[in-house]
Amino acid sequence: MRSSLPLARRPTPLERLARLSEHLGVQVDVKRDDLTGVELTGNKVRKLEVILAEALQARADVVITCGGVQSNHCRATAAAARKVGLHPVLLLRGERSESPDSNLLLDQVFGAELHFCTPDEYRSQRGRIMADLAAGFAAAGRRAFVIPEGGSNGAGAWAYARAAEELAQQTTGPYDAVFAPVGSGGTLAGLALGPDIGPIWGVAVCDDRAYFSARVKAIAKEAEAYGLGPLPPEGEKWRVVEGYQGAGYGIADAQVWNTVSAVARWEGLLLDPVYTGKAMCALFAEAKAGRIRGKVLFWHTGGAFGLFGRGAEFLQLGGQ
Ligand SMILES: Cc1ncc(COP(=O)(O)O)c(C=O)c1O
Repeated sequence: MRSSLPLARRPTPLERLARLSEHLGVQVDVKRDDLTGVELTGNKVRKLEVILAEALQARADVVITCGGVQSNHCRATAAAARKVGLHPVLLLRGERSESPDSNLLLDQVFGAELHFCTPDEYRSQRGRIMADLAAGFAAAGRRAFVIPEGGSNGAGAWAYARAAEELAQQTTGPYDAVFAPVGSGGTLAGLALGPDIGPIWGVAVCDDRAYFSARVKAIAKEAEAYGLGPLPPEGEKWRVVEGYQGAGYGIADAQVWNTVSAVARWEGLLLDPVYTGKAMCALFAEAKAGRIRGKVLFWHTGGAFGLFGRGAEFLQLGGQ
């Protein structure tokens, strides 16, 4: 048993989406990891329970991580770090704002130390920039613990393998398909390394299948140190589904907004335009095409703060 901090409200509920099931002709259940908490909502909390336990064991007093300017992972890290008395430092891809909203606003409410970089710097130099920040803290007599993008490392995967165990205890047998969004690969890797909950369809929200397959394999390799593995071959227990990324990370088209609206109106359930809205688009399309049947699980990974600040777009594309 790894050490882990009690940050998430667990077990998260498992609910049936009755009207959606009727509409799609498949049974749709939802695993409510959006209910892991309020400040700490979403899938990142499970990963942070393990990662921050490691930071505390390493006697760190600072945590450094990175993500997009509206990163849920960065906001969750800022909140979780404050809960356990650590100083949060965020490297954000994007620009400072005169009127921050959504996750960036919350980062600032939690008093995270913010550093900004361009997309190019983020792509090629984020590791070095975070190492430099850590070295600066070390020179000042402090100890910084660096968390990779999305909390997607062996520890994060271990947390999601354990989440699969939690689901297995709530159900009577595996699903015919489990849908979850893939943003940095840790959730998919963890679910694929856990007990059998059914074939996992990880829906890429950006990049492509080749990129995420490689990421999942690399994360699974790291997870060996946590006693997990080996990862079954792609296509057996897990797969990366592409075709639902749209124009790129964070960009939602009318189909995504309409799906967000439809689920909110049929089920009173909030999705987000960056992750869960795209994953639900995939579930809709695959069910309508007859490629999934029977019992389907939608793993709700949170992200509702991503709706805020996008009102004009919603009215234009998803409000009908
Ligand atoms: C709300 C939400 N859902 C899903 C994901 C994807 O999870 P992962 O990064 O583990 O692939 C993220 C983060 O990337 C997220 O913030």
